[in-house]
Amino acid sequence: MPVSVLIGIQWGDEGKGKIIDVLTENIDMVVRFQGGNNAGHTVEIGSEKYVLHLVPSGIFRKDIICVIGNGLVVDPVSLMEEMKELAGKGIDISNIQLSSKAHLVMAYHKIADASREAGAGAGKLIGTTKRGIGPTYSAKADRTGIRACEILKPQKFEKIFREQAISWNAHFKASGVECVDIESEWKKLFEAVAYLTPHIKDTVLTVNEAVRQGKNILFEGAQGALLDIDHGTYPFVTSSNTTAGGACTGSGIPPKAIGCTYGVMKAYTTRVGEGPFPTELHGEEGETMRKIGREFGATTGRPRRCGWFDAILCRYSCMVNGVDKLTITKLDVLDTYPELKICTAYELNGTLIKNMPLDPGDLSIVKPVYETMPGWMASTAEARSFNELPENARKYLLRIASLSEAEIGIVSVGPRRDQTFKI
Ligand code: GDP
Ligand code: IMO
Ligand code: MG
Repeated sequence: MPVSVLIGIQWGDEGKGKIIDVLTENIDMVVRFQGGNNAGHTVEIGSEKYVLHLVPSGIFRKDIICVIGNGLVVDPVSLMEEMKELAGKGIDISNIQLSSKAHLVMAYHKIADASREAGAGAGKLIGTTKRGIGPTYSAKADRTGIRACEILKPQKFEKIFREQAISWNAHFKASGVECVDIESEWKKLFEAVAYLTPHIKDTVLTVNEAVRQGKNILFEGAQGALLDIDHGTYPFVTSSNTTAGGACTGSGIPPKAIGCTYGVMKAYTTRVGEGPFPTELHGEEGETMRKIGREFGATTGRPRRCGWFDAILCRYSCMVNGVDKLTITKLDVLDTYPELKICTAYELNGTLIKNMPLDPGDLSIVKPVYETMPGWMASTAEARSFNELPENARKYLLRIASLSEAEIGIVSVGPRRDQTFKI
């Protein structure tokens, strides 16, 4: 299939970066279509470990066009720093294209995000990455956002930036929040503007032309379906459509162009930030899983909350995304568990339910109903085919896939490229 979309099925950090890197062996173009530098996608190549935030994970393969689509919110200074760091390591960044329609994250959006999280505002704590994602998408919806095409007219851009910064500063001052240092921010922005200018393109044309030419294109989702602003555990979500439909709106390709959807999920569950998590393991049990899985945020370094596989939520996500090929990662993390639990239903106020509750907020009060499977107590990290896995590992994979109502396409048994096999 020339056009594929890869989506996180859970609450993010499923290993999307690693799988994108593996899949890009025969790919012409990788397209990010939503989110911003709240994402942290890890790619391990040999002894090098890279964490990408805005640059698509296809950047390590020669001649791949890497598109940052219109659906993103882009911190220009952060993107410049990420590109400079990659270039400093000898990676060719000339093929990066930034959509002229992508919205820009400004310093005041980040302060607004952080101050709300600190309790300065009236809203609930979300546990955001404090990268200004929510306020920038709010500005986009409010039609007061600044888009990348403004960079091409630096004088106009400077004028809008200063006007908005002054207006936000008045608000920050009134709320007792630290203001934006307008001069020093403009200095940084000015440098970023010059650096990014050659990369700004009409990426809607780039991507559609590639579709017309039958090129192999991979869309790289950020976050996960349970963090989708419409379909996730609202309000504990991010501010974009992380699900497969977002690939169309966030890049400008028509829905009929999409051939295959990969859904990436861990063999267990993790979550960073606030919000309900029915199968969460607390105390020592949670600590153990976090330690084995090295579950610390790739963007913020925060410890990830860990728990058992939740089949209700994964089935829901697979349905919303129309998953063709399930990709199950981090199977190796379960190697030392004598028994594994899978959540197959919830008890909600004394009633058994097998679907996402009408109000996802009720996920904070449901009691998970588990089925138990025997573990395999052997290393899977060296397996390079389904048949090389221990029998109980095969049974576990088939069970979680069948409960998710999707077919397994890829299994990952370690962070490296070679620790991956197709089924
Ligand atoms: P992403 O945001 O979905 O790209 O995922 P992250 O990079 O935030 O987190 C996934 C982490 O798991 C990274 O540290 C990866 O190197 C690592 N990883 C990916 N696949 C596997 C796997 O199959 N096994 C193990 N042990 N680690 C993996
Ligand atoms: P990748 O692409 C995991 C979470 C935050 C918070 C919520 C809202 O690496 O999988 P935001 O800053 O977006 O307003 O925060 O979403 N979150 C992620 N969790 N992986 C991510 O990205 C995330 N991006 C945002 O922790 O709970
Ligand atoms: Mg991540």
